[in-house]
Amino acid sequence: MPRKKSAAVAVHPFDEMHGVETGGLVPAGELVTGHASDAHVTAYYGVAPSILRTLVEIWLETEPAHPLKRYTFVDIGAGKGRAMLVASEFPFKQVVGVELNAAMADVARRNVSHWEESRRSDPTARRHAQVRLVEQDALEYAWPKTPCVVFMFHPFEAPLMKKLLQRIEKEFAGRAGELDVLYVNAECASVFAANPAFQKLWFGMVKMSPEDHAADKAAIAQQVAYGSTGDEECGVYRLVGRGRS
Ligand SMILES: C[S@@+](CC[C@H](N)C(=O)[O-])C[C@H]1O[C@@H](n2cnc3c(N)ncnc32)[C@H](O)[C@@H]1O
Repeated sequence: MPRKKSAAVAVHPFDEMHGVETGGLVPAGELVTGHASDAHVTAYYGVAPSILRTLVEIWLETEPAHPLKRYTFVDIGAGKGRAMLVASEFPFKQVVGVELNAAMADVARRNVSHWEESRRSDPTARRHAQVRLVEQDALEYAWPKTPCVVFMFHPFEAPLMKKLLQRIEKEFAGRAGELDVLYVNAECASVFAANPAFQKLWFGMVKMSPEDHAADKAAIAQQVAYGSTGDEECGVYRLVGRGRS
């Protein structure tokens, strides 16, 4: 996410190419739902597609326990669905987005149906994973029985992240190695560091493509709260449980 420093919307090349609407920065104050989790929301901002693609490649080098095609990709805090659409370019078993805000979820559903429709009518389109949006608080989500790779683009602050990791631990009890996390703009890295059930596999800066960086700068040109550096601090984690030596 752009570094902290009213939303101007510039069309991102991803949106232009695919006829979807995933742009803009929506501050926390405009994402109020009445749910208790609102207190920790950060903002809506779509991930740079190049960052997500690179992070998936980094993850694949960490020797996941299963082939990619067995994993459900779960985007916690799916927003308008950009990360879901990009993830569906990979042959995951399925892609699920979990989004608390109804307006964001509506836009994501529209984007997903346009994306699927245009892929169906294009015989040259690459095979892609099925995509589904769940309108729900992240803490209430019922996790799939498949291996999962969880994607997060800094959706909420530390108190909620702590609870989410505890919930994942409970839901995946006895299933060590079955859940990996790809975390972009890893502001809550200390929450992972404090939880021994999660092993850090990789941590560092991921650079966005020049095209994404230009779009990032254009999107935030009229903002005072954020700036763009062209890279994101990212982490890759594996749920290993607490029983390891
Ligand atoms: C930075 S955006 C990320 C969007 C998307 N993952 C992407 O990368 O394109 C974070 C999103 O998380 C959502 N969010 C925040 N707290 C949430 C919660 N407790 N449960 C579900 N979604 C949440 C916000 O409404 C916002 O749309």
